[in-house]
Amino acid sequence: MTTDQPPTIPIDVPARHGLLSVLFSEAVTPDTRLQCSKLSGSAFGKSLSAPQFLEREALLGTHPLAVGTRWRFWNLTLAEASAGNDDDNEEGAKVVALCKTLHRDLLIRDERGTRREQGYCLCSVVTDDEYRGRGLASVLLGKVAEWMDGEGGAVASMLYSDVGDFYVSKGWDMLDALQSTLTVPPSLAPGEKSAKLPTTRLLDADEIPALAERDIQDLETEFRNADLSPDTTLLTVLPTPDMISWLQTRADFMNTKLAGQTPKAKGSICESAGAWVYWFHDLHARKLTIQRVKLPQTQTQAGELATIQAVGALLLSAVEEAARWKTTKAVIWNPGPEIRGATRYLAEEFGIGVEEERRETKNIPCLRWRGDEKKRTRVWPNEYYAWS
Ligand SMILES: CC(C)(COP(=O)(O)OP(=O)(O)OC[C@H]1O[C@@H](n2cnc3c(N)ncnc32)[C@H](O)[C@@H]1OP(=O)(O)O)[C@@H](O)C(=O)NCCC(=O)NCCS
Repeated sequence: MTTDQPPTIPIDVPARHGLLSVLFSEAVTPDTRLQCSKLSGSAFGKSLSAPQFLEREALLGTHPLAVGTRWRFWNLTLAEASAGNDDDNEEGAKVVALCKTLHRDLLIRDERGTRREQGYCLCSVVTDDEYRGRGLASVLLGKVAEWMDGEGGAVASMLYSDVGDFYVSKGWDMLDALQSTLTVPPSLAPGEKSAKLPTTRLLDADEIPALAERDIQDLETEFRNADLSPDTTLLTVLPTPDMISWLQTRADFMNTKLAGQTPKAKGSICESAGAWVYWFHDLHARKLTIQRVKLPQTQTQAGELATIQAVGALLLSAVEEAARWKTTKAVIWNPGPEIRGATRYLAEEFGIGVEEERRETKNIPCLRWRGDEKKRTRVWPNEYYAWS
């Protein structure tokens, strides 16, 4: 049990057939955490078997992004001990609703300057299907928001909604959910075409921490120098080494279990331009996801073509990597003008299919400021690396 465990709070939720008495608490005993993981698996673990899902939970729980109290499980249990729990192997009250908070390092620039702050990603929001539609998820989110605003010390939190604007009435605002999808062509252009582009090489996992630290330093400089109107706040989740490796660890696990192999290359770098990308493979869904595109540091107008070619070379190496693993597409979230310029270049010069779209229903990023404060905010970069 953690020493800073918040107290258990009894709540009566008005329901159609009278009050439902539940307890809000953090799940800290192995037993309740197991119940939570099982409930989580029932909603989000579809491609894994139940034991595989639990194994993934255990693995991710040891990751540096999650250790200690960085990954907290919050739950509502039925108020009467053991009430409704029909699983003979489990003791204690039945978990009827769950969500998790996972640590985030935020970078913020506002009228007070540029600084790092504590934040969270809220994930795995689920209510036992027998108890849905009674307001349990709403109550749980309210309590967790209260904790984040107070003891949790967060200035802001993000989540990724699969349930439309459900979270809007709970304080979260929906952000842009744009994406570009590159389709791997039946055959890639011959070498002389790519000879026009700057050289890239593939990245191993152990090279990423140092690059991520460089990326963070450059982002801090970019934030400090940003031309920002006084009423706007600039915010990003920092692409820390732990952030990047969390998703790669998760993907390695999935690829091992579902495809029996784990690709070694985790990204690509164009050293001459000081630009790189990180990615992870989903061999089962035949998709490569680009977590982060680190642009060349100096982007003058004269260097526009050079930037497009450097980013184009990196994205081409992502498409080549996707082709090597017989995956069909590479996806980038919220591409800026340089990335869109590079994807257009790849379409024209290399015949790579590019689709630009707005996600309407899946993985919509949402942001909530402490105390439901509403302020004009630009979240940038808002790429896949921050997803959980
Ligand atoms: C979404 C979920 C957590 C809601 O739990 P709940 O305890 O029934 O929620 P509440 O009773 O507090 O609120 C029900 C609300 O959820 C909305 N909702 C439920 N499923 C939804 C869906 N698939 N799409 C959009 N809205 C949905 C209902 O319309 C209702 O909206 P209202 O508050 O405006 O009336 C639950 O349906 C669930 O566990 N779904 C499966 C897991 C999931 O998709 N989680 C969200 C991932 S981002």
